[in-house]
Amino acid sequence: MADLSTTYMGLALRNPLIVASSSLTKTVEGVRRCADAGAGAVVLKSLFEEQILADLHGDEIDAKFAWHPEALDYVQRMGLEFGPQSYLKLIGEAKRAVSIPVIASLHCVSPGLWTNYVRKIADAGADAIELNISVMLSDPRRDTGHVEKIYTDTVESVAKLAPIPVAVKIGPYFTSVARMASDLWMRGARGLVLFNRFYQFDIDIDKMALSPGHRLSSPQEIALPLRWISLLSGKVKCDFSASTGVHDAAGAAKLILVGATTVQLCSTLYENGIARITAIRDDLERLMEKHSFASIDQMRGKLSQSRSERPELYERLQYIKALVGMD
Ligand SMILES: Cc1cc2nc3c(=O)[nH]c(=O)nc-3n(C[C@H](O)[C@H](O)[C@H](O)COP(=O)(O)O)c2cc1C
Repeated sequence: MADLSTTYMGLALRNPLIVASSSLTKTVEGVRRCADAGAGAVVLKSLFEEQILADLHGDEIDAKFAWHPEALDYVQRMGLEFGPQSYLKLIGEAKRAVSIPVIASLHCVSPGLWTNYVRKIADAGADAIELNISVMLSDPRRDTGHVEKIYTDTVESVAKLAPIPVAVKIGPYFTSVARMASDLWMRGARGLVLFNRFYQFDIDIDKMALSPGHRLSSPQEIALPLRWISLLSGKVKCDFSASTGVHDAAGAAKLILVGATTVQLCSTLYENGIARITAIRDDLERLMEKHSFASIDQMRGKLSQSRSERPELYERLQYIKALVGMD
């Protein structure tokens, strides 16, 4: 039997399948169901920075703090029902309920706010922290250095305080994802989650108005983490956790082959139910046996750029020949 165990930021996981931060992991019952279905670890639903601010500033949530309309809406609707205190309670109860690692998730957009809270998260029993950092870069007057500094300063301020490993979940919208990844590692990130899939909007032509886009990903979207993890896994020393587009064992295997330590599941669990974790785990084991991989370690990075004899293939951007015959 193939050995599916792996380590992620020093944590021992029975397999590389992590349930991504989402409503699936916002209750103890949800976390227990994920563990029972065979998940290697879970990332709890994010606590939004605005929720901490709301806690600090009473009921008044100043819109200037809320860079994220989604978070403002969330906080206003939920109040402090799911605030900092109940989040610590969730961590503690989840840890007692399951034996797999439980990773807390903080959504932040500014450094320095988490000072007291980070230690409390560790004291509550979280095995690691995932920082979900997302700054919308829509203002042409804001220079890239300023925005990137928000990321690196935030990571540094949390990593310095945290007695547990810190992973950072980012989106793909950087001039240099490679440089950003390296900077985040240098400033204390032990894991990089590539990538967050942001809320997307669409246009309702009949109503001539904005409408929600596809909430869930498609398997094709794995192309983005596949490319970046293949390019970075041999160059930046942290662990890589793949997120976006992992819907089956083949997708998970591809990402491990290019260097991911773990893969995160979300949309497929919404579509197919939590039992999908068991199916993907069993399929992954079969796939490894079929290709004679005795362990995840043996498989990891085999097809990464740094181990390839044709590294230039990983950096190809233009179609050229591939388009011949399609014109
Ligand atoms: C309903 C829903 C809620 C989510 N909530 C969070 C969240 O609180 N924090 C976070 O970091 N990501 C959140 N995500 C993003 C997922 O963790 C994941 O990164 C994304 O869905 C891409 O993975 P997938 O292709 O497997 O769905 C959420 C996604 C969905 C669909």
